[in-house]
Amino acid sequence: MTDYKELTAQLAALTEGVPYRIANLANAAALLFETLEDINWAGFYLMEDGALVLGPFQGKPACIRIPVGRGVCGTAAEEDRTQLVPDVHAFPGHIACDSASRSELVVPLHGPGGVIGVLDIDSPLPARFTAEDQKGLEEFARVLERTMAPGKENA
Ligand code: SME
Repeated sequence: MTDYKELTAQLAALTEGVPYRIANLANAAALLFETLEDINWAGFYLMEDGALVLGPFQGKPACIRIPVGRGVCGTAAEEDRTQLVPDVHAFPGHIACDSASRSELVVPLHGPGGVIGVLDIDSPLPARFTAEDQKGLEEFARVLERTMAPGKENA
């Protein structure tokens, strides 16, 4: 079981005082990919021109652009609600970037104007993610949002 308190503390230590958005998201993806068991993808999609565009990640190359409202990521962004999907094949419109993925957790990220992107984690195991993972990764997302505050983005 993942120690989310420890994981979130590691993220805070890694990103503290770092004013570079891409560096922080890249380290966050690496931290998740190294720490969480039984996952095959961890990373970010960021809102660009009204759609979700692939950001820093670890795992196989993935789809570049996801319209808001499409797939698990687009649904999380549109509804501004975490999507915990135990069986991706049962999710209408799921976008299969890696055919090995069986379950998925997507957490929206917020800026002052609303959703600015999503954190996406995939697993090759069905029902990999629990309510505890959801709570822990939502807290992880809150720490990341603080590093992405206005004026802290990459030039
Ligand atoms: N499965 C996602 C697409 C992104 S990949 O999993 C990395 C979706 O349905 O939105």
